[in-house]
Amino acid sequence: MASYFSIITNIVSFLTIIALCNVNQTLARHKNPNSSSSLFVFGLTHSSSSLPIPKSSRYLTKPSQPLDMMESLREVTDGYLISLNIGTPPQVIQVYMDTGSDLTWAPCGNLSFDCIDCDDYRNNKLMLVFSPSYSSSLVRDTCGSSFCFNIHSSDNHFDPCTMAGCSLSTLLKSTCFRPCPSFSYMYGGGGVVTGTLARDTLKIHGISNNSEVRDIARFCFGCIRTTYREPIGIAGFGRGALSLPYQLGFLQKGFSHCFLAFKYANNPNISSPLVLGDVAISSEDNLQFTPMLKSPILYPNYYYIGLEAITVGNYTTANEAPLNLKEFDSQGNGGMIIDSGTTYTHLPDPFYSQLLSTLGSMIPHPRATEFEMKTGFDLCYKVPCPNNTFRNDVFPPITFHFLNNVSLVLPQETCFYAMAAPSNSTGVKCLLFQIMNDGDYGPAGVFGSFQQQNVEVVYDLEKERIGFRPMDCASAAASQGLHKN
Ligand SMILES: *[C@@H]1O[C@H](CO)[C@@H](O)[C@H](O)[C@H]1NC(C)=O
Ligand SMILES: *[C@@H]1O[C@H](CO)[C@@H](O)[C@H](O)[C@H]1NC(C)=O
Ligand SMILES: *[C@@H]1O[C@H](CO)[C@@H](O)[C@H](O)[C@H]1NC(C)=O
Ligand SMILES: *[C@@H]1O[C@H](CO)[C@@H](O)[C@H](O)[C@H]1NC(C)=O
Ligand SMILES: *[C@@H]1O[C@H](CO)[C@@H](O)[C@H](O)[C@H]1NC(C)=O
Ligand SMILES: *[C@@H]1O[C@H](CO)[C@@H](O)[C@H](O)[C@H]1NC(C)=O
Ligand SMILES: *[C@@H]1O[C@H](CO)[C@@H](O)[C@H](O)[C@H]1NC(C)=O
Ligand SMILES: *[C@@H]1O[C@H](CO)[C@@H](O)[C@H](O)[C@H]1NC(C)=O
Repeated sequence: MASYFSIITNIVSFLTIIALCNVNQTLARHKNPNSSSSLFVFGLTHSSSSLPIPKSSRYLTKPSQPLDMMESLREVTDGYLISLNIGTPPQVIQVYMDTGSDLTWAPCGNLSFDCIDCDDYRNNKLMLVFSPSYSSSLVRDTCGSSFCFNIHSSDNHFDPCTMAGCSLSTLLKSTCFRPCPSFSYMYGGGGVVTGTLARDTLKIHGISNNSEVRDIARFCFGCIRTTYREPIGIAGFGRGALSLPYQLGFLQKGFSHCFLAFKYANNPNISSPLVLGDVAISSEDNLQFTPMLKSPILYPNYYYIGLEAITVGNYTTANEAPLNLKEFDSQGNGGMIIDSGTTYTHLPDPFYSQLLSTLGSMIPHPRATEFEMKTGFDLCYKVPCPNNTFRNDVFPPITFHFLNNVSLVLPQETCFYAMAAPSNSTGVKCLLFQIMNDGDYGPAGVFGSFQQQNVEVVYDLEKERIGFRPMDCASAAASQGLHKN
């Protein structure tokens, strides 16, 4: 029964939080049904990522020489966790893998770490906290580093060191090595974290031999003392200089992941493969590639792809996507982002409503409106379940058509999901798509992680394209040795 997330949600709080998101929502979470507000949207938009990326190479650190690596992602109900081995001796911290933001951060400081307005954390303080004092190799980042400049979103390179108290003469000579001042990092949807930038040794696993471990010296991450709202701990996989792939030297190469189906959530025996390096982008067999688009002005650190249409059933009914799902306007708004930190796919109106009505016209089952009210999802159906067993063929297939003639038929269980156990040979399934609020500002849509299950997704950063290949990720995990039994 663990695989049913019967979301008994507090719809009011959901809508309130949506209304608060004045930028795009990039992490829609659903939580334990028993917690007070079961469903809310979290944004991972770094508010300042719209600022230009510095051109000067003066303070830029050269990325280290990359080694192909493979890490495993543990699936939980609201995303995929990567284990970071940081420090000397290493401390293992599990954080959410997020392609929609750049900063990697861990809750820091053992007893002093505080999370404001975090139900999960309050309810079960199980999460591991990084203890800086236990690591002999930890240092504060300095005010002159490119990371410090980046996190402070400064317009000039002297700002962080000036804030840190350096004199102009030492600035001119680049001889001031004070610690990078504390920062706050904001996510759309109201999340905020505050802390300091730290450098410490990160251990990564080699690909050919999982017991081969390499040290990445002076990996830069946020040592976060206080956060407002969950989630707690993030590994940023965005395109910016702070992101984990960039720091490890993979931004000119790429990475790939294969997200396990939701039925494996919280199963400790199997995890999803995450591969970084040449090997992630070397195979083209059966992969369909769509180009990565670049928003020249707004949020350049997102991975944008263009959506052309969505078809339902046997390609008979095409819902043409609006232009803003494949092009940017003069202010840089538009495009669809692919984001592992957003649970559900978000589409803008009226496109979203048109899709709902197309589905409505093709699905013969009765609507379960009481579940729509309870869960906040827009389309729920009572479906026949012979012998109280769900069948997987009761809905027409949904196909996403991305730029470059890429057609991805979404596995049905990633579009419609069971909300309650069947009884009387009837069950309820809801469409796990949501409306994109405020799609006029920033990205117009989000391709979320739930719809990426059982698909290998390749971020080919060398050729600036995203590849898709339907795959049984549990078998892929088994063949990579990530399925212990
Ligand atoms: C929710 O609460 C009910 C009753 O309090 C309990 O039986 C059930 O196991 C809980 N479910 C979860 C997922 O915690
Ligand atoms: C937190 O700090 C206390 C006291 O320094 C220590 O005994 C405890 O083991 C620490 N806990 C963790 C999880 O690091
Ligand atoms: C894997 O790496 C470990 C540690 O470097 C080494 O001891 C072991 O022999 C390697 N195994 C293989 C099959 O290469
Ligand atoms: C994980 O494996 C252990 C040992 O084989 C087994 O007892 C346990 O039920 C498994 N857990 C799940 C969720 O499958
Ligand atoms: C799609 O086509 C297949 C075979 O051509 C057919 O069996 C199926 O019923 C069709 N489905 C829909 C929804 O039209
Ligand atoms: C339901 O279960 C019964 C007995 O186990 C079996 O004979 C029957 O074929 C099943 N019906 C369906 C539709 O699976
Ligand atoms: C698009 O792909 C389909 C198969 O997926 C193929 O039949 C068709 O010719 C392609 N169209 C173009 C313009 O490449
Ligand atoms: C199940 O069906 C029976 C007979 O049709 C009916 O009496 C009962 O109320 C139904 N139960 C539920 C939970 O709908």
